[in-house]
Amino acid sequence: MSSLQEQLASRFEQDLSDLIEFLRIPSVSALREHRADMHRAAEWLAAAMRRVGLENVQVIETPGHPIVYADWIRDANKPTALIYGHYDVQPVDPLDLWESPPFEPEVRQGRIYARGASDDKGQVMVHLAALGALLACYGELPVNVRVLIEGEEEVGSPSLEPFLQERPDLVSADFVVISDTSMFAPGLPTLCTGLRGIAAVELHVTTAATDLHSGLYGGAAPNALQVLAQLIAASKDDQGRVAVPGFYDRVIEPTPRERQAYAALPFNEKELLERLELGGWDGEPGYTPFERMTVRPTFEVNGMWGGFLGEGSKTVIPREAHAKITCRLVAGQDPEEVVRLLTAHFQRLCPPYARVEVTPGHGARPWKADLEHPALQAAIRALQRTFGKDVALAPTGGSIPVVESFDRLLRVPCVLMGFADPDSNAHAPNERFSVETFRVAREAVALFWQEAARDGLKS
Ligand code: BES
Ligand code: ZN
Repeated sequence: MSSLQEQLASRFEQDLSDLIEFLRIPSVSALREHRADMHRAAEWLAAAMRRVGLENVQVIETPGHPIVYADWIRDANKPTALIYGHYDVQPVDPLDLWESPPFEPEVRQGRIYARGASDDKGQVMVHLAALGALLACYGELPVNVRVLIEGEEEVGSPSLEPFLQERPDLVSADFVVISDTSMFAPGLPTLCTGLRGIAAVELHVTTAATDLHSGLYGGAAPNALQVLAQLIAASKDDQGRVAVPGFYDRVIEPTPRERQAYAALPFNEKELLERLELGGWDGEPGYTPFERMTVRPTFEVNGMWGGFLGEGSKTVIPREAHAKITCRLVAGQDPEEVVRLLTAHFQRLCPPYARVEVTPGHGARPWKADLEHPALQAAIRALQRTFGKDVALAPTGGSIPVVESFDRLLRVPCVLMGFADPDSNAHAPNERFSVETFRVAREAVALFWQEAARDGLKS
């Protein structure tokens, strides 16, 4: 065992109990009632950064939730890395499906169960633990680092792009490293090669001044929920393609070489169908389920509401109906243009007796990795050495809005080194993170810094 490995081994119990403490803070960014918890989580993180030996630690207020920053910068001749992650988590509902309370972390069968365990607190703590071990072992880091952990990733990172523009001094770096994606299969080291973008809208339909008695007016008065259902139903064809005019116009198709690489990934369709209890696949003909989930664009209704939802029956014609919709976007697509296409589509389809309003929400552009970049190559070597396996290179269908901003504004490459379990239940009840992966990932990340230093990697 190297002295670094010894250091990591001796710190493991403490690292795990730090993570458990972090997971106890219900830092749900989407819900107003957790505002104070967001500050608590930011302060906790700042203290954890100081403990591992990072410097210049700051909790920076934004119009939304605070950003936590720290750095360790010594040698202008060495590369500077920016580690990005997020301390905010998704809401926990439906609460009754959790086997243990979401903010009372519990270890069962080698996995730690809590909201944020894998997305992204567990992975953030992998990085702090690796930095802590390196500093304790050598008294210095092999590279300069900045650590930037935000609290609004799960709500589209609205404050981050302004922050990148206002504080170039805090974000200048030679490359960015993010652990906020998954491993392709259990124990299979994985680098994420692409993210989808996103365009979110809310759809509001109104048909009358007030809710109406369905006995008095039913048959002639329009029903807002019915109109909404028609608008939604007309947004996909019966094959599963998105039927919004212009939606596919700018989509860049995966190349034959890319498709070959996707086909070679150990993607187990049957296992996934069974685990998720899906009755079958939906979506575009001509693309594999994996491609549909990662490199093809989507139209998804996330929620619809309106009318009477109480007990029993109520003979009412609802005057308004609402839906939340998100589209995942791929190379070539732009969120603002997709919002325009959606708006035009719903307005064109709206019957003359109804009114439709489309309000845009958050948006992010898609992103693709530069596979040739030496930072990625250093990551591949570090992961291979630690896990003793070839590294899977795979796109994911999720979005991390800031990655494309780093690309566009800072012009630096991002390395997406993800450690979440493939069945992490991120965003769902019983989110979890493998304790063994947490242990090993700390070493992978520490080795990565050494590999990155060896390579120079200054841009
Ligand atoms: N960690 C995820 C991104 C992700 C999702 C990576 C799936 C790999 C697989 C991230 O925290 C996330 O959930 N992002 C949101 C962004 C959105 C709110 C703009 C997402 O993808 O829904
Ligand atoms: Zn995340």
